[in-house]
Amino acid sequence: MKVLLPLLLAVWLSAPSGCTSLPPSCSEPPAKWCSSLESAARCGVLKQCLEADFRKTHQTADPVQVALYYESLCPGCRNFLAGMLFPTFVMLSDIMSVTLVPYGNAQEKPDGDKYTYVCQHGPPECLGNMIESCIMNMTQMAFPIIFCMESSADVIGSAESCLKVYAPDLSIDKVMSCAKGDLGMQLMHQNAMMTKALKPPHEYVPWVTINGEHTDDLQDKAMSSLFTLVCSMYKGTKPPACGGTQKIHYKSYCSNE
Ligand SMILES: *[C@@H]1O[C@H](CO)[C@@H](O)[C@H](O)[C@H]1NC(C)=O
Repeated sequence: MKVLLPLLLAVWLSAPSGCTSLPPSCSEPPAKWCSSLESAARCGVLKQCLEADFRKTHQTADPVQVALYYESLCPGCRNFLAGMLFPTFVMLSDIMSVTLVPYGNAQEKPDGDKYTYVCQHGPPECLGNMIESCIMNMTQMAFPIIFCMESSADVIGSAESCLKVYAPDLSIDKVMSCAKGDLGMQLMHQNAMMTKALKPPHEYVPWVTINGEHTDDLQDKAMSSLFTLVCSMYKGTKPPACGGTQKIHYKSYCSNE
């Protein structure tokens, strides 16, 4: 990226700015717009990609690690994931990392050399947990897909269309064969181990840890305003979203003439 910067700047400065709709040559899904100079230019988002890259390389401290232990069909978990965790991550992805562990109050039973699972909200929840674990193993776009599923009326039924939006190359068939096979079981066993290793052990879900730590205070703050908590815990220079001093102004407006 460093090598590319002068070139990027040159292209950026010569790129027309304005309020055009997406160029027809931009066929990539949004997540890939910044993946190369060419696609950023084609999609008319060079400036935004450069700014995002600038903020990332100017990160001055370790990201705040937020982990969520949850169940795919628990209403409180869905509210927190869709209404708090994902929006906060969208704003603060430069300074936070997110780990999702779908398991919660499930139970694991050894069955020969395999495991079977019983979930608090029944077999559909086990399937939802499994699908989400597989998606996390199979694509970098897992968080938006899981957000899409958890915020829709039908968590499992929406998986296919959520995949189509955010990871069109990953088929629902591939995900389901993971969810129903040995890989899914292996991934769920990892979730079970991570959940069982919690200190203190979880008493409910959604259960949040910040930098690996859970206290009543951190949990309350995460539930009431995760955004404020992450900004306050980040030890580096606060990003603009937190109201820090490093400001980036967007001065491009569309007039109604
Ligand atoms: C997917 O899961 C397998 C089995 O646990 C693991 O070896 C692999 O590293 C995982 N891949 C990703 C991208 O998480």
